[in-house]
Amino acid sequence: MGRLELQKISLKLNGKPILKNINIDFWEGYIHAIVGPNGAGKSTLAFTIMGLEGYRSFEGDILFKGLSLKDLSIDERAKRGITLAWQEPARYEGLRIKDFLASAAREKSEKNISDTLIKVGMEPTEYLKRALDKTLSGGERKKIEIASILVMEPELVLLDEPDSGIDIESLEKIFEIIQLLKKKKTTVILITHSLAVLKQADHAFLMCHGDIIDKGETKKIIPYFENKCIPCGHKNFPNQEERKNGE
Ligand SMILES: Nc1ncnc2c1ncn2[C@@H]1O[C@H](COP(=O)(O)OP(=O)(O)O)[C@@H](O)[C@H]1O
Ligand SMILES: [Mg+2]
Repeated sequence: MGRLELQKISLKLNGKPILKNINIDFWEGYIHAIVGPNGAGKSTLAFTIMGLEGYRSFEGDILFKGLSLKDLSIDERAKRGITLAWQEPARYEGLRIKDFLASAAREKSEKNISDTLIKVGMEPTEYLKRALDKTLSGGERKKIEIASILVMEPELVLLDEPDSGIDIESLEKIFEIIQLLKKKKTTVILITHSLAVLKQADHAFLMCHGDIIDKGETKKIIPYFENKCIPCGHKNFPNQEERKNGE
């Protein structure tokens, strides 16, 4: 389900070219990764695909299942089956987890909500009635967000830095869910700066300075992480510590 084609996408923000003539064909039912250094334009590309405010006036076209998304709002794109998991799951603050998940779900039964919580490794009796607020850890919030994607049953999912701010155990769960989405024939696009996340993908696109500079099977793109972004010569900084020391 859900082939997405980006055709000659260019976008300027505040007059500055951020995306430069991007052509990508995301095959349906595969896990794709977009990798590249900080500031490459990865999140901008995700926001453009989703149609966020401020990211609508791009050149080129975005086709989902053969139809243009260009003039559609975020809600209309969501109705077509596209969803984006944000880096920070800050929305819906204060709602009970069960109500938050029911609002996202196609199948709103308590059984479906509970089963989904179990899939992300959270005990329903402990979490259903808890509030979505700061008493949850970063990992718990991320897992709730992933659960909301599962119950939504989208055709295409964009996950922007799915490993940001979470513990190893939660990350393992998120990887399980990514593979589960693939089994359900969902098209998955992982936006990442992490080798572990990249390894979940079948195909990868290497992005630098708003350009796609390499693409192919994941194993072809992995060497980029071993020292630097080879084709363009930019240093790659897989983690924050290294980045601080390197700059
Ligand atoms: N609203 C904006 N106005 C101007 N420049 C922006 C804006 N948002 C992002 N940028 C710039 O666009 C580039 C790409 O940012 P981003 O898409 O967040 O990169 P990534 O997600 O790959 O780290 C960066 O140089 C950033 O400073
Ligand atoms: Mg980003």
